[in-house]
Amino acid sequence: MARSTVLIAAVVLAFLVAAPMLEVMAKKYTVGDKKFWNPNINYTIWAQGKHFYVGDWLYFVFYRDQHNILEVNKADYEKCISTHPIRNYTRGAGRDIVPLYETRRYYLLDGRGGCFHGMKLSVLVETPPPPPPFTPPPSQ
Ligand SMILES: *[C@@H]1O[C@H](CO)[C@@H](O)[C@H](O)[C@H]1NC(C)=O
Ligand SMILES: *[C@@H]1O[C@H](CO)[C@@H](O)[C@H](O)[C@H]1NC(C)=O
Repeated sequence: MARSTVLIAAVVLAFLVAAPMLEVMAKKYTVGDKKFWNPNINYTIWAQGKHFYVGDWLYFVFYRDQHNILEVNKADYEKCISTHPIRNYTRGAGRDIVPLYETRRYYLLDGRGGCFHGMKLSVLVETPPPPPPFTPPPSQ
């Protein structure tokens, strides 16, 4: 009886410890870093070497009168066609979030000028890597 109570307590504790860690693991990426969402930046190069995982999000900062942020399909992305977006992430303040909920490739572009001067970004969203192995504390 006492033993199972301890076990349950341990499981609950492990969960309480692990849950905030999962939250912390989600990353926010400011697209373009300090250059933000602007013309004449190669976002393919910006994305190179980065790993995007489910739960991460992209943060776009831009001049709200000049740009927007739309999701399109692969063919439209390649041709910079923004007339039938899959999704419009633009909310009007020039600061928009694209939450990466699914493991797939996302195709995003500036729809105001049809990838205006290279404003397009494609990211592959992956399953998060397994957490480091749990090492039980030494038993007495
Ligand atoms: C951006 O960089 C990638 C990788 O080096 C290259 O393949 C692509 O042509 C570049 N795009 C532009 C618009 O320069
Ligand atoms: C995207 O949504 C914003 C805010 O609702 C709207 O002002 C804008 O016209 C939309 N753009 C497109 C291309 O649908």
